[in-house]
Amino acid sequence: MYLILFGAPGVGKGTQAKLISKKHKIPQISTGDMLRAAVKNKTELGKKAGEIMSRGELVPDDLILEMIKERFGMDDCKNGFILDGFPRTLAQAEGLDKLMQHLKLPEFNCIEISVPDQDIISRLVSRRLCSNCGTDYNLITNPPPEDLKCIICGGEIIQRKDDNEETITNRLKVYTDQTAPLKNYYQSKGNFITVDGRKKIDEVQEDINNLLKEHSKQIN
Ligand code: AP5
Repeated sequence: MYLILFGAPGVGKGTQAKLISKKHKIPQISTGDMLRAAVKNKTELGKKAGEIMSRGELVPDDLILEMIKERFGMDDCKNGFILDGFPRTLAQAEGLDKLMQHLKLPEFNCIEISVPDQDIISRLVSRRLCSNCGTDYNLITNPPPEDLKCIICGGEIIQRKDDNEETITNRLKVYTDQTAPLKNYYQSKGNFITVDGRKKIDEVQEDINNLLKEHSKQIN
């Protein structure tokens, strides 16, 4: 399975990608997570990306495509993968197509998760994460314990630097200007479907699973 989860910041791409990854035993490839790891480890890429990310702008396409090319070469990608937060520009989508052709891999299915901006802002300002294992908490739906120690690993629970209202507003603008136009690109390929991300997490998951089942019936 080769799947792109498409949608604005905070619509639930990461949440759904993790569930699909577990069910289908294929990796979630999140460019945001990869960049945050690079920032944490102070790599050359991390040094270039950190400041850009804290403003909510996009990291340059050539750096992202280089990172993706390296990731696709890893062993766990042999049976498919889920792209979460990539591609985000036309240059990235075209670079991805070239890479897939070069690797002789099939076209992607693209599932958009759609949520109104007001709901996105309230979800993202309420998001908290374990700094060690990445477990997601949310002040509205899944509050962290009072001592802010992760219930899974005991790590410190933190708020992402870019999850403040000002940066979220800029991330949404960047999405509208640079990423939303990709909808046309994937719609014209004929494999773009939208699900309602306002529903509960398990309901959105069920809708995605049904779409994926439907698709596998069509190709078998
Ligand atoms: P990235 O990490 O990709 O951030 P994003 O796109 O802004 O997405 P998020 O992780 O914020 O949201 P999500 O859709 O995954 O939602 P989640 O499931 O966590 O990118 C960060 C930065 O890195 C970018 O701004 C850019 O600088 C750089 N970058 C990354 N990729 C790049 C690229 N390709 N090119 C250039 N630059 C790049 O859910 C959010 C919250 O909502 C959670 O708390 C969750 O519990 C809750 N939630 C989820 N689903 C539901 C639901 N159905 N109902 C209620 N709450 C829900």
